[in-house]
Amino acid sequence: MHGYALDNAAGETVERFNALESCYDTATRDSLRRTGLAGGWNCLEIGAGGGSIALWLSDMTGPDGRVTVTDIAPGQLAPGLLACPNVQVLRHDVVNDALPEAEFDLIHARLVLLHLPERRAVLQRLVRSLRPGGWLVLDEFDCSWTPVLMTPYEGAEVTFERVHAGFLESLTESGADVTWGRKLFGEFVRAGLSEVSSTTFAMAWPGGSAGASLHHANTTQLADRIQGHGVPAEDLHLLWSLLEDPRFAVQSYPMVSACGRRER
Ligand SMILES: C[S@@+](CC[C@H](N)C(=O)[O-])C[C@H]1O[C@@H](n2cnc3c(N)ncnc32)[C@H](O)[C@@H]1O
Repeated sequence: MHGYALDNAAGETVERFNALESCYDTATRDSLRRTGLAGGWNCLEIGAGGGSIALWLSDMTGPDGRVTVTDIAPGQLAPGLLACPNVQVLRHDVVNDALPEAEFDLIHARLVLLHLPERRAVLQRLVRSLRPGGWLVLDEFDCSWTPVLMTPYEGAEVTFERVHAGFLESLTESGADVTWGRKLFGEFVRAGLSEVSSTTFAMAWPGGSAGASLHHANTTQLADRIQGHGVPAEDLHLLWSLLEDPRFAVQSYPMVSACGRRER
């Protein structure tokens, strides 16, 4: 069972993409702006999910720009995206399908390579697909630091931690690297990119917030596999109540955004 564990065909996908966009789009846009993104750029958005960043890139690059938008399962992309004249949508697997060489001014992916066992080879493919001077921006989680910040009763943090550990084990057995975010800076330098920088964004997620709903979507979709890691169903139900409870709060996943440039 290797590769992306959170198949977009599942009913929880809309909840997941809404949560990701609501919590992380501002930080992603800030990182993309740091590249000098401008009208006329030729961009590639990989594993676009709901497509909010692709839509924004379409706006930023304007009528003279181009945005190629890919996903292995592009069925959740915002319908408005398909109507943008400077956008091309492709059903495309970044591991196995062809990518043009020396083509793009900017390549961006958020939370895609983390899931792929072939992430290092994919990173090399992405570097080759940049034109000289082009930018690679990856946004990835480091899932190892999600402390519980507030609990309505004693022991609630143990419930969160037990279910969350089962969730991360389920991702890992599919080939994910749940601490990939912390490795980006070194991987970018090793890949020969220049002007490498990285920033990290995190926030509090109280029960009932968009962020809490990301945990709900993830643990609901993989509930059977989480239980397969020894987590009782009762813990899952307790967690789902906590995620609705404003007296509970957990730190978000820290999202590391790394930028680097192909040598001219
Ligand atoms: C966690 S979601 C993130 C979606 C979006 N980038 C965001 O952050 O809102 C991962 C996305 O990557 C896509 N994906 C997974 N494996 C892929 C692959 N091999 N090639 C292209 N896309 C892939 C999934 O279908 C899904 O839409």
